[in-house]
Amino acid sequence: MSTNKAQQFYDRISHAYDLIADGGEHVARERGLELLAVQAGESVLEIGYGTGHSIVALAKAVGESGQVKGVDISSGMRDVAQKRVDAEGVQANVELLVGSVPPLPFEDDTFDVVTMSFTLELFPLETIPAVLAECRRVLKPGGRVGVVSMATVAEGDKASMLERTYIWMHTHFPHIVDCQPIPLEELVTKAGFTLSKQERIDLFTMPVSIVVAN
Ligand SMILES: C[S@@+](CC[C@H](N)C(=O)[O-])C[C@H]1O[C@@H](n2cnc3c(N)ncnc32)[C@H](O)[C@@H]1O
Repeated sequence: MSTNKAQQFYDRISHAYDLIADGGEHVARERGLELLAVQAGESVLEIGYGTGHSIVALAKAVGESGQVKGVDISSGMRDVAQKRVDAEGVQANVELLVGSVPPLPFEDDTFDVVTMSFTLELFPLETIPAVLAECRRVLKPGGRVGVVSMATVAEGDKASMLERTYIWMHTHFPHIVDCQPIPLEELVTKAGFTLSKQERIDLFTMPVSIVVAN
Protein backbone atom coordinates (compact mmCIF):
# COMPACT_ATOMS: atom_id res chain seq x y z
CA MET A 1 0.00 0.00 0.00
CA SER A 2 1.39 3.46 -0.86
CA THR A 3 1.95 5.89 2.02
CA ASN A 4 -0.87 8.05 0.71
CA LYS A 5 -3.26 5.10 0.71
CA ALA A 6 -2.06 3.98 4.17
CA GLN A 7 -2.75 7.44 5.53
CA GLN A 8 -6.26 7.52 4.04
CA PHE A 9 -6.96 3.95 5.20
CA TYR A 10 -5.94 4.60 8.82
CA ASP A 11 -7.67 7.98 8.88
CA ARG A 12 -10.86 6.25 7.79
CA ILE A 13 -10.71 3.45 10.38
CA SER A 14 -9.20 5.45 13.27
CA HIS A 15 -12.43 5.65 15.29
CA ALA A 16 -13.25 1.97 14.70
CA TYR A 17 -9.71 0.56 15.03
CA ASP A 18 -10.02 -0.65 18.61
CA LEU A 19 -13.26 -2.44 17.77
CA ILE A 20 -11.80 -4.05 14.63
CA ALA A 21 -8.35 -5.04 15.82
CA ASP A 22 -7.53 -4.38 19.44
CA GLY A 23 -9.63 -7.18 20.93
CA GLY A 24 -7.16 -9.70 19.48
CA GLU A 25 -3.98 -7.68 19.39
CA HIS A 26 -3.93 -6.18 22.87
CA VAL A 27 -2.54 -9.31 24.58
CA ALA A 28 0.62 -9.31 22.41
CA ARG A 29 0.92 -5.52 22.56
CA GLU A 30 0.79 -5.56 26.36
CA ARG A 31 3.22 -8.49 26.63
CA GLY A 32 5.61 -6.55 24.39
CA LEU A 33 5.52 -3.66 26.85
CA GLU A 34 6.09 -6.02 29.79
CA LEU A 35 9.20 -7.44 28.12
CA LEU A 36 10.44 -3.98 27.19
CA ALA A 37 10.23 -2.98 30.88
CA VAL A 38 10.45 0.77 30.38
CA GLN A 39 11.84 2.57 33.43
CA ALA A 40 11.10 5.92 35.07
CA GLY A 41 13.04 8.75 33.44
CA GLU A 42 13.56 7.04 30.07
CA SER A 43 12.90 8.70 26.71
CA VAL A 44 10.77 6.52 24.44
CA LEU A 45 9.64 6.67 20.83
CA GLU A 46 6.69 4.70 19.46
CA ILE A 47 6.36 4.35 15.67
CA GLY A 48 2.76 3.81 14.51
CA TYR A 49 1.10 4.62 17.84
CA GLY A 50 -2.43 4.05 16.48
CA THR A 51 -5.13 4.79 19.04
CA GLY A 52 -2.52 5.44 21.75
CA HIS A 53 -2.89 2.56 24.23
CA SER A 54 0.86 1.95 24.42
CA ILE A 55 1.64 5.68 24.47
CA VAL A 56 -0.43 6.03 27.67
CA ALA A 57 1.18 2.96 29.27
CA LEU A 58 4.65 4.21 28.32
CA ALA A 59 3.94 7.71 29.67
CA LYS A 60 2.89 6.22 33.00
CA ALA A 61 6.03 4.02 33.05
CA VAL A 62 8.50 6.85 32.34
CA GLY A 63 6.79 9.20 34.82
CA GLU A 64 7.31 12.94 35.08
CA SER A 65 11.07 12.71 34.57
CA GLY A 66 10.75 10.81 31.29
CA GLN A 67 9.28 11.59 27.91
CA VAL A 68 7.32 9.76 25.23
CA LYS A 69 7.13 10.73 21.58
CA GLY A 70 5.15 9.06 18.85
CA VAL A 71 5.06 9.29 15.08
CA ASP A 72 2.16 8.00 12.99
CA ILE A 73 1.15 8.60 9.40
CA SER A 74 -2.52 9.17 10.25
CA SER A 75 -3.87 12.42 11.70
CA GLY A 76 -7.11 10.52 12.45
CA MET A 77 -5.13 8.14 14.68
CA ARG A 78 -3.33 11.13 16.24
CA ASP A 79 -6.67 12.69 17.20
CA VAL A 80 -7.94 9.47 18.80
CA ALA A 81 -4.61 8.90 20.60
CA GLN A 82 -4.38 12.52 21.81
CA LYS A 83 -7.88 12.24 23.28
CA ARG A 84 -6.82 9.11 25.18
CA VAL A 85 -3.61 10.80 26.39
CA ASP A 86 -5.57 13.85 27.60
CA ALA A 87 -8.23 11.70 29.29
CA GLU A 88 -5.48 9.82 31.17
CA GLY A 89 -3.82 13.10 32.20
CA VAL A 90 -0.37 12.19 30.84
CA GLN A 91 -0.14 14.91 28.16
CA ALA A 92 2.67 16.82 29.92
CA ASN A 93 5.36 14.35 28.82
CA VAL A 94 3.82 13.11 25.56
CA GLU A 95 4.26 14.50 22.05
CA LEU A 96 2.39 12.90 19.15
CA LEU A 97 3.67 13.72 15.67
CA VAL A 98 2.07 12.98 12.31
CA GLY A 99 4.44 11.86 9.56
CA SER A 100 5.49 9.03 7.33
CA VAL A 101 8.32 6.74 8.43
CA PRO A 102 11.08 6.29 7.25
CA PRO A 103 12.88 8.59 7.90
CA LEU A 104 12.41 9.41 11.58
CA PRO A 105 12.27 13.15 12.28
CA PHE A 106 14.72 13.04 15.22
CA GLU A 107 18.42 13.63 15.86
CA ASP A 108 20.85 10.74 16.27
CA ASP A 109 21.11 9.24 19.81
CA THR A 110 17.83 10.69 21.11
CA PHE A 111 15.95 7.79 22.73
CA ASP A 112 16.57 5.06 25.30
CA VAL A 113 13.83 2.95 23.72
CA VAL A 114 12.11 2.69 20.32
CA THR A 115 9.04 0.51 20.05
CA MET A 116 6.37 -0.58 17.55
CA SER A 117 3.48 -3.01 17.60
CA PHE A 118 1.66 -4.37 14.56
CA THR A 119 3.37 -1.72 12.45
CA LEU A 120 6.71 -3.05 11.11
CA GLU A 121 4.88 -5.68 9.04
CA LEU A 122 2.97 -2.94 7.19
CA PHE A 123 6.11 -1.78 5.41
CA PRO A 124 7.17 -3.48 2.17
CA LEU A 125 9.82 -6.11 2.97
CA GLU A 126 12.45 -4.07 1.11
CA THR A 127 11.73 -0.99 3.28
CA ILE A 128 11.99 -2.74 6.67
CA PRO A 129 15.84 -2.55 6.83
CA ALA A 130 15.59 1.25 6.37
CA VAL A 131 13.00 1.48 9.17
CA LEU A 132 15.21 -0.55 11.52
CA ALA A 133 18.30 1.46 10.53
CA GLU A 134 16.43 4.61 11.50
CA CYS A 135 15.54 3.02 14.86
CA ARG A 136 19.24 2.28 15.41
CA ARG A 137 20.23 5.85 14.43
CA VAL A 138 17.86 7.58 16.87
CA LEU A 139 18.63 5.18 19.75
CA LYS A 140 21.28 6.22 22.26
CA PRO A 141 24.22 3.82 22.52
CA GLY A 142 22.95 0.82 24.52
CA GLY A 143 19.32 1.73 23.81
CA ARG A 144 16.80 -0.99 23.07
CA VAL A 145 14.19 -1.65 20.45
CA GLY A 146 10.97 -3.56 21.15
CA VAL A 147 8.88 -4.93 18.29
CA VAL A 148 5.64 -6.91 18.19
CA SER A 149 4.59 -8.17 14.75
CA MET A 150 2.75 -10.83 12.82
CA ALA A 151 5.43 -13.44 12.14
CA THR A 152 6.17 -16.06 9.54
CA VAL A 153 5.72 -19.58 10.94
CA ALA A 154 8.74 -21.09 12.67
CA GLU A 155 10.85 -23.50 10.62
CA GLY A 156 9.21 -26.93 10.51
CA ASP A 157 5.75 -25.58 11.52
CA LYS A 158 2.84 -25.61 9.10
CA ALA A 159 0.92 -22.40 8.38
CA SER A 160 -2.71 -22.59 9.56
CA MET A 161 -5.56 -22.21 7.10
CA LEU A 162 -6.17 -18.70 8.47
CA GLU A 163 -2.51 -17.76 8.02
CA ARG A 164 -2.54 -18.98 4.40
CA THR A 165 -5.79 -17.07 3.71
CA TYR A 166 -4.29 -13.98 5.31
CA ILE A 167 -1.19 -14.11 3.10
CA TRP A 168 -3.34 -14.73 0.03
CA MET A 169 -5.49 -11.73 0.92
CA HIS A 170 -2.41 -9.55 1.38
CA THR A 171 -1.04 -10.63 -1.99
CA HIS A 172 -4.29 -10.10 -3.89
CA PHE A 173 -6.09 -7.41 -1.87
CA PRO A 174 -3.41 -5.35 -0.08
CA HIS A 175 -5.88 -2.47 0.35
CA ILE A 176 -7.95 -4.76 2.64
CA VAL A 177 -5.19 -6.77 4.39
CA ASP A 178 -2.30 -4.32 4.49
CA CYS A 179 0.20 -6.37 6.48
CA GLN A 180 2.12 -9.59 5.93
CA PRO A 181 3.79 -11.98 8.38
CA ILE A 182 7.53 -11.20 8.58
CA PRO A 183 10.62 -13.09 9.82
CA LEU A 184 10.99 -10.59 12.67
CA GLU A 185 13.89 -12.16 14.57
CA GLU A 186 15.95 -12.44 11.37
CA LEU A 187 15.18 -8.90 10.21
CA VAL A 188 16.07 -7.38 13.58
CA THR A 189 19.30 -9.38 13.79
CA LYS A 190 20.27 -8.48 10.22
CA ALA A 191 19.76 -4.81 11.12
CA GLY A 192 22.66 -5.18 13.59
CA PHE A 193 20.69 -5.66 16.81
CA THR A 194 21.28 -8.45 19.33
CA LEU A 195 18.12 -10.12 20.57
CA SER A 196 17.84 -10.03 24.37
CA LYS A 197 14.26 -11.32 24.73
CA GLN A 198 12.02 -13.17 22.30
CA GLU A 199 8.62 -14.77 22.62
CA ARG A 200 5.90 -16.06 20.32
CA ILE A 201 2.16 -15.77 20.91
CA ASP A 202 -0.67 -17.30 18.95
CA LEU A 203 -3.25 -14.87 17.56
CA PHE A 204 -6.23 -16.81 16.20
CA THR A 205 -3.79 -19.58 15.01
CA MET A 206 -1.36 -17.04 13.50
CA PRO A 207 2.05 -16.49 15.12
CA VAL A 208 2.98 -13.12 16.60
CA SER A 209 6.61 -12.44 17.49
CA ILE A 210 7.76 -10.22 20.30
CA VAL A 211 11.40 -9.20 20.48
CA VAL A 212 13.52 -6.86 22.56
CA ALA A 213 16.98 -6.14 21.19
CA ASN A 214 20.01 -3.89 21.81
C1 LIG B 1 -2.00 -1.78 12.58
S1 LIG B 1 -1.90 -0.20 13.32
C2 LIG B 1 -1.17 -0.57 14.93
C3 LIG B 1 -1.40 0.53 15.92
C4 LIG B 1 -0.79 0.33 17.30
N1 LIG B 1 0.64 0.24 17.26
C5 LIG B 1 -1.38 -0.88 17.97
O1 LIG B 1 -0.64 -1.88 18.21
O2 LIG B 1 -2.58 -0.85 18.31
C6 LIG B 1 -0.53 0.51 12.44
C7 LIG B 1 -0.31 1.99 12.69
O3 LIG B 1 0.85 2.39 11.92
C8 LIG B 1 0.56 3.61 11.25
N2 LIG B 1 1.38 3.65 10.01
C9 LIG B 1 1.21 2.91 8.88
N3 LIG B 1 2.15 3.20 7.97
C10 LIG B 1 2.95 4.14 8.54
C11 LIG B 1 4.11 4.86 8.09
N4 LIG B 1 4.65 4.67 6.88
N5 LIG B 1 4.67 5.76 8.93
C12 LIG B 1 4.14 5.97 10.17
N6 LIG B 1 3.06 5.34 10.64
C13 LIG B 1 2.47 4.42 9.85
C14 LIG B 1 -0.95 3.57 11.00
O4 LIG B 1 -1.51 4.84 10.82
C15 LIG B 1 -1.46 2.87 12.25
O5 LIG B 1 -1.78 3.77 13.28
